[in-house]
Amino acid sequence: LFTAVEMAPRDPILGLNEQFNADPNPAKVNLGVGVYFDDNGKLPLLKCVQEAEKQLVDAAKPRGYLPIDGIAAYDKAVQGLVFGTDSAIVSEGRVATVQAVGGTGGLKIGADFLKRLNPNATVLISDPSWENHRALFQNAGFKVDTYPYYDAAKRGVNFDGMIAALNGAPAGTVVVLHACCHNPTGYDITPAQWDQVVAAVKSRNLVAFLDMAYQGFGEGIKEDGAVIEKFVAAGLDFFVSTSFSKSFSLYGERVGGLSVACASKDDATRVLSQLKIVIRTNYSNPPTHGAQIVATVLTTPALRAMWEEELAGMRVRIKQMRTALQDKLKAAGVKQDMSFITLQKGMFSYTGLSVEQMQRLRGEFGVYGVDSGRICVAALNSKNIDAVVAAIAKVS
Ligand code: LMR
Repeated sequence: LFTAVEMAPRDPILGLNEQFNADPNPAKVNLGVGVYFDDNGKLPLLKCVQEAEKQLVDAAKPRGYLPIDGIAAYDKAVQGLVFGTDSAIVSEGRVATVQAVGGTGGLKIGADFLKRLNPNATVLISDPSWENHRALFQNAGFKVDTYPYYDAAKRGVNFDGMIAALNGAPAGTVVVLHACCHNPTGYDITPAQWDQVVAAVKSRNLVAFLDMAYQGFGEGIKEDGAVIEKFVAAGLDFFVSTSFSKSFSLYGERVGGLSVACASKDDATRVLSQLKIVIRTNYSNPPTHGAQIVATVLTTPALRAMWEEELAGMRVRIKQMRTALQDKLKAAGVKQDMSFITLQKGMFSYTGLSVEQMQRLRGEFGVYGVDSGRICVAALNSKNIDAVVAAIAKVS
């Protein structure tokens, strides 16, 4: 049966972890996968999470099946975070939200639902985009194309190209947009440019699918989520996938969500019923633990305040690492202007290094980044940064 099965390639991001773990180099540094590490190079276990877990253990409950769409308090908390607790769209019941297995799960539920709704649509992702976007939408049965995004010469966003592509897209085209902290480049568009994107989505009758995996890692929870309000204000129906992997440092718990903003409560009720079918036929219903932690933290004022502070701590440390990286590369004699590093937002920096340079970093210095030139700035710390800078200076 399996003799004809071909060996699949390694995942471009998670495959690097396997390679990193197998590397005996004691000085190796993992800047591949998008994971935040503290200044000691440790994966943080947030205090708010520990506190919530303690409460959950003290009031331990038996584990029945969750509803197909997940824990109601969790879904409500997700809506509050994404759309704002006082927003009319939430109070009017116009958002269908389901708990998902990570942000990726949210994307997949949305993709499968869209395929039933609009089977012939093309999906447009940014060029470049998160490595998994293309594969995920292709596996859901869509043709996937790109809209221009990164301008290598300018070290920024090719916004003219992006907006022209959106304005030229046929009605019904699904456009995957990074709500904040663009992965992999780190370059976000401005609020005024978002207005133009919203206008294009509306006038061309496109379907916006916002991927918001890094809320709170750019400028703040509210600031990073501000784009959602623009889509709501324009009266659009749209999708938002969310993730708590990074913002709660709960990577392995796979806690995410999918919200679908609808024109009416009635639409939202019918949409929710379809999302539940997608979930039921994929994995039946979601797991309990991670979502309970997040719901407990978000709905307990003291824990929520603690979380916001811890999240701000991660955000500030990333910014410090950006400044340090920029300054140290200059001090190490790298001629090229590196000021783009502090203009980028979130966990990642698109360094502009070539595949060959990234492979040299890995092979000669044990510095692991993605072949595309993406490095995870959130994995830099005061102990490993000098080695990383020295390695980049050598290959530059
Ligand atoms: C990344 O881009 O590194 C993260 O989103 C982790 C992943 O699943 O790829």
